[in-house]
Amino acid sequence: MMKIGVLISGGGTNLQAIIDAIDNGIIDGKIELIISNKKDAYGLKRGLNAGIESIFIDPNGLDDVEYSQRLLEEFNRRDVDFLVLAGFLKILSQDFVREYENRIINIHPSLIPSFSGMKFYGDRVHKAVLDYGVKYSGATVHFVNENADEGPIILQEVVAVDFDDDIDSLKEKVLKVEHKLLVKAIRLFCENNLSIVNSKVKIEEGQREKSLN
Ligand code: GRF
Repeated sequence: MMKIGVLISGGGTNLQAIIDAIDNGIIDGKIELIISNKKDAYGLKRGLNAGIESIFIDPNGLDDVEYSQRLLEEFNRRDVDFLVLAGFLKILSQDFVREYENRIINIHPSLIPSFSGMKFYGDRVHKAVLDYGVKYSGATVHFVNENADEGPIILQEVVAVDFDDDIDSLKEKVLKVEHKLLVKAIRLFCENNLSIVNSKVKIEEGQREKSLN
């Protein structure tokens, strides 16, 4: 059974979707450790309520490299197989990403490469979508590489942007898709049905048809 590490910074609804999918037998994996860079992240409570080791590691006084090293120590101590960034808003060091190459999965609330990169996170993404006036947005699950939001894409799904949408209504629509896609991507990873060929993600055909239904 795959050992999963999760990094969060906020409410943790994506984390909750993973916890529920494991409890329902959809994901054949076990969350060994949840780490937040925010002490008050409600996602920590979600983890503790589920009986999962959930800790706050204070980033104050540490730069991104030092903080990444602290994270690595904790995940390596628990022999974690892969990591999920579920609303994690800090930059991971190159060493960290290299150590877990093609074993870090991130969820982003837009159709990458649109509205992605360093300055696009959380509500900023949905504001930019509405300001631009695009007719579709969506969610992307991808492997993490050394550049923000640029790793091989695993799954995407489209959400229609309605004229009367505001940030909250669009966020709500996208979040529902995020939860669905993140669970599917983790399930595929745990079942070893994801491979990377020339920087493109190959999904085993059977699984792909199922995951697009
Ligand atoms: C989500 O919109 C996710 O795409 C973004 O941060 C938010 C996390 O939400 N990275 P939650 O903490 O999982 O509820």
